[in-house]
Amino acid sequence: MPPADPDPPAPPPTPQPPSPVGSQPVPRAMPSRATGPAGSARTAVVWEVLSAVLAETDPAGDGLDVLDAGGGTGGFAVPLGAAGHRVTVVDPSPDSLAALQRRVAEGGLTDRVVGRQGDLSDLSDLVAPGSVDLVLCHSVLEVVEDPAEALAAAAGVLRPGGRLSLLVANRAAAVLVRALAGHPDEAARVLTDLDGRWGPADGVRRRFTVEQLEQLVSAAGLEVEQLHGVRVVADLVPSAVLDTEPGAAAALLALERALSNRLPFRDIATQLHLLAVRR
Ligand SMILES: C[S@@+](CC[C@H](N)C(=O)[O-])C[C@H]1O[C@@H](n2cnc3c(N)ncnc32)[C@H](O)[C@@H]1O
Repeated sequence: MPPADPDPPAPPPTPQPPSPVGSQPVPRAMPSRATGPAGSARTAVVWEVLSAVLAETDPAGDGLDVLDAGGGTGGFAVPLGAAGHRVTVVDPSPDSLAALQRRVAEGGLTDRVVGRQGDLSDLSDLVAPGSVDLVLCHSVLEVVEDPAEALAAAAGVLRPGGRLSLLVANRAAAVLVRALAGHPDEAARVLTDLDGRWGPADGVRRRFTVEQLEQLVSAAGLEVEQLHGVRVVADLVPSAVLDTEPGAAAALLALERALSNRLPFRDIATQLHLLAVRR
């Protein structure tokens, strides 16, 4: 993995081709920085990594083939479709797929974003091997039966040169959260529990360390390119401050960006975001 870049530049703008793919004219900009997911301190870092990689992979702006595995209601799939990419969401939840369908219809994106019911273990029946430029697997490895098998399935649908965007819950963050909540015993348990859980009432099935994540990705035959922390401080700042103090939300966003790839901050973020490539 290359050394961490302390101050990443703003991602280049998505190219604006004269004739978008598909029959309907579709706006091709990635989500704006001021509003939407790219403007939220909780998701901005992921969008910035994705925007840069999409622009690099698709300089002509023809649109890429994207799979959002466990994409749920389309929080990422819909903006990616609006940016001109061809997105397939595979998810086992009929309710999520119905909500996705509504958002897709409202956005006029029915020729760009499709939902398929299924899960990562059926992926080879739903998506052709080696046919995808970018696989998103966001907040899904925490819930699947077998993370190694799920990642192998995700890697299998990537073209050579294709990327995996992986977002998972970070074990280190849970240690701090339980300790700050006044439960040092549960914090200690997160450290030693096989799945990084603080107890039977923990709503998260498993969390990952940086090392575990890198090993899982390598075992799936992918090469780690970037690793960022997501929500390093966003979950610690009271929302009342953000709502009432002028400029606080923008300052928090800037701070998240600055901390996301600086140690030790990266490694205590609520989530870890990893970008990997299939060679
Ligand atoms: C926490 S949500 C994340 C949704 C979306 N990726 C996001 O970042 O907003 C987890 C999603 O994984 C889906 N899921 C659960 N088990 C799965 C499996 N075995 N394969 C694929 N998706 C699964 C759930 O239905 C749900 O939509």
